[in-house]
Amino acid sequence: MTHTSRRALLALAAAVPALAAARASAQDAPGSPSPNAGRAAIVTGSSRGIGAATARRLASDGYAVTVNYLTNADLAAQVVQEIEWAGGRAIARQADVADPAAVGALFDACVQAFGGVDVVVSNAGIMNTAPIAQFTDEAFDRMMATNLKGSFNVLREAARRVRDGGRIIALSSTSMTQKRATHGPYAATKSAQEMLCGSLAKEVAGRRISVNAIAPGPTNTELFRVPPAVMQQAVAAIPYGRIGEPEDIANAIAALCEADGEWINGQLVFANGGFF
Ligand SMILES: NC(=O)c1ccc[n+]([C@@H]2O[C@H](COP(=O)([O-])OP(=O)(O)OC[C@H]3O[C@@H](n4cnc5c(N)ncnc54)[C@H](OP(=O)(O)O)[C@@H]3O)[C@@H](O)[C@H]2O)c1
Repeated sequence: MTHTSRRALLALAAAVPALAAARASAQDAPGSPSPNAGRAAIVTGSSRGIGAATARRLASDGYAVTVNYLTNADLAAQVVQEIEWAGGRAIARQADVADPAAVGALFDACVQAFGGVDVVVSNAGIMNTAPIAQFTDEAFDRMMATNLKGSFNVLREAARRVRDGGRIIALSSTSMTQKRATHGPYAATKSAQEMLCGSLAKEVAGRRISVNAIAPGPTNTELFRVPPAVMQQAVAAIPYGRIGEPEDIANAIAALCEADGEWINGQLVFANGGFF
């Protein structure tokens, strides 16, 4: 089987559980082991949305995946089940990324289940929007704790524990470039991802670990549930004439995780269909 046809079969089988057996046999075909066999990934906030699509995609690329969630245990278990039906390996673990001890335990679980950590996607995030004059302390503090301190907790643990040659990716947002009214505090947390990743890239480069921030545009998840007029504006600003699907972002993350993606390092990568 050629490399291209094997990849096509793996991608198709990941999407259709009935083809799980075909995928497993493609992975096991003599002389064509998955380049990611024996490698493990942690995706924070992967019970739904972009994180869930990323967990499924990395699993279809051969990674054993640790699915993380805050409250939606059922959704996380469903993601694990989908991965297993497609012939992959996954576990689900609850952890609030705002809690450094919980993040440590999340990494422990991945090491215990799969022997190490090779890819970390710091994806968990929330979006609270309001004019600054009306922004409450509670909404501000919760978003900072999740998006900024949470991602710092995850990146710090990743810096300590990702194996040589690994990948670290944090979710930023195209909205940080737009300075939209009501988005100031959210955009500040997303702008911070570029700074954290830029410095970390220099700190771990000696171990051939690449670190990048990825900035989606409007993407079809619960986080981006907006009134129809705002949706129309978003679609009109995207040359492709549609907003992103979670799989669009997962594909871009997977590209950074490829061996061929190694030279993309210390960057803010926009994945937004041309939205600016
Ligand atoms: N959607 C967009 O348009 C868009 C655009 C640019 C950037 N982004 C960024 O992409 C990332 C994912 O967004 P999304 O749209 O996929 O969001 P989403 O659909 O709302 O999903 C959020 C995920 O994060 C988890 N989560 C929330 N708080 C957490 C915490 N404290 N600890 C651990 N997990 C937590 C949720 O878990 P539960 O299910 O358990 O609640 C869920 O799995 C975010 O960082 C977001 O800022 C999104």
